[in-house]
Amino acid sequence: MSLRVGMIACGGIARHHWRGWSQVADRAEVVALVDVSAENRAWFKQHVPKATEYDDYNGMLAKEKLDAVDISLPHHLHHPCLMSVIKKGLHWICEKPLCMSLDEAADIDQAMSGSKLVGMSAHNQAFFPALLEAKRLISEGQLGEIYTIISEDCFIMGLPRPGALPGEAPWSAVEPGMWRADAAKMGGGELIDTGYHPTYRLLFLAGREPVRVAAITGKYRQKHMQAEDTATVLIEFDNGITGMVRTSWALELPAGHHSFHVVAERGELYGSANELCWKPVRFNEPAKMAFDEVDTFEKEIVHFVDCVEQGIEPLQSYKDGIRVLQVIRKSYDFVDEGKANI
Ligand SMILES: NC(=O)c1ccc[n+]([C@@H]2O[C@H](COP(=O)([O-])OP(=O)(O)OC[C@H]3O[C@@H](n4cnc5c(N)ncnc54)[C@H](O)[C@@H]3O)[C@@H](O)[C@H]2O)c1
Repeated sequence: MSLRVGMIACGGIARHHWRGWSQVADRAEVVALVDVSAENRAWFKQHVPKATEYDDYNGMLAKEKLDAVDISLPHHLHHPCLMSVIKKGLHWICEKPLCMSLDEAADIDQAMSGSKLVGMSAHNQAFFPALLEAKRLISEGQLGEIYTIISEDCFIMGLPRPGALPGEAPWSAVEPGMWRADAAKMGGGELIDTGYHPTYRLLFLAGREPVRVAAITGKYRQKHMQAEDTATVLIEFDNGITGMVRTSWALELPAGHHSFHVVAERGELYGSANELCWKPVRFNEPAKMAFDEVDTFEKEIVHFVDCVEQGIEPLQSYKDGIRVLQVIRKSYDFVDEGKANI
């Protein structure tokens, strides 16, 4: 039986999710659309003309008989929306960040506990083929002991993103009045937005519990943001592995850097979405592995439908979303408390 799905928000990223929903049309049907913008709903309507339109998610939840929802609202609306969705007993996939505060995360965790609902964090970059291969090699012990992991996601907001899919529009620069300019609606700045990606990649590769962080933030280019456009976070894990996240909407990935870089006893493993390099200790030239390009948004939606149908835990569940939020919130605390001041 086909799943009945409601799209909660039809903005920029939801259109990327659509590529996934269009791939599973025989297994899941988008039957309802929510957005306060009629123009954004109209973009979806051209693909799902029979879907019912709403400008309020509670209205949709009250009227529609659904199995699952796909949430791409601005950050401050994730928590209230998730609480309503879980109360309704629906499976869900939600864009990052899961929510904005650790209190909100605790609410969501409590509401989900004991339920058989699938709650998936839309951590699309966890589907990078090179990252999945790196995880496999680490888990098999091929690298020996892991020492330190660097994970970076840097681009200039408003300019086309390196590695963008053909025809993919750049994310708009942050302008006054946008929710991204407003620290209260964001729950912070760039770190709690794009910074989620390198953080979940790092936690995924480390596979251990983070225990301590230090952080520093800056605002260089996105002058209309109330909060930072760039952050660097240091993380220590319970087994002594250390990590560094660098994330920015002000600078491109510094020349020679990689999306992720693992330094281990037997060598260095580093790469991007589709390329992985392995440089054993004392070798100068790395061995290179190339992977077919994948659409990670398509992958995450197909995976979500697989998880709902089979009742299995997602590759990145909401619990992973909570762990990332812990690192990010503690990083903001570190900055706010001025612990790095000289
Ligand atoms: N995975 C990624 O690479 C990625 C990239 C961009 C954004 N995101 C995430 O996706 C989410 C949305 O970001 P976006 O770039 O699509 O933003 P956006 O501003 O393009 O879209 C947000 C949509 O929400 C709608 N909306 C606002 N308030 C609403 C309300 N009360 N009820 C119903 N609809 C409402 C807006 O009209 C808009 O269509 C954020 O959580 C963001 O962090 C993820």
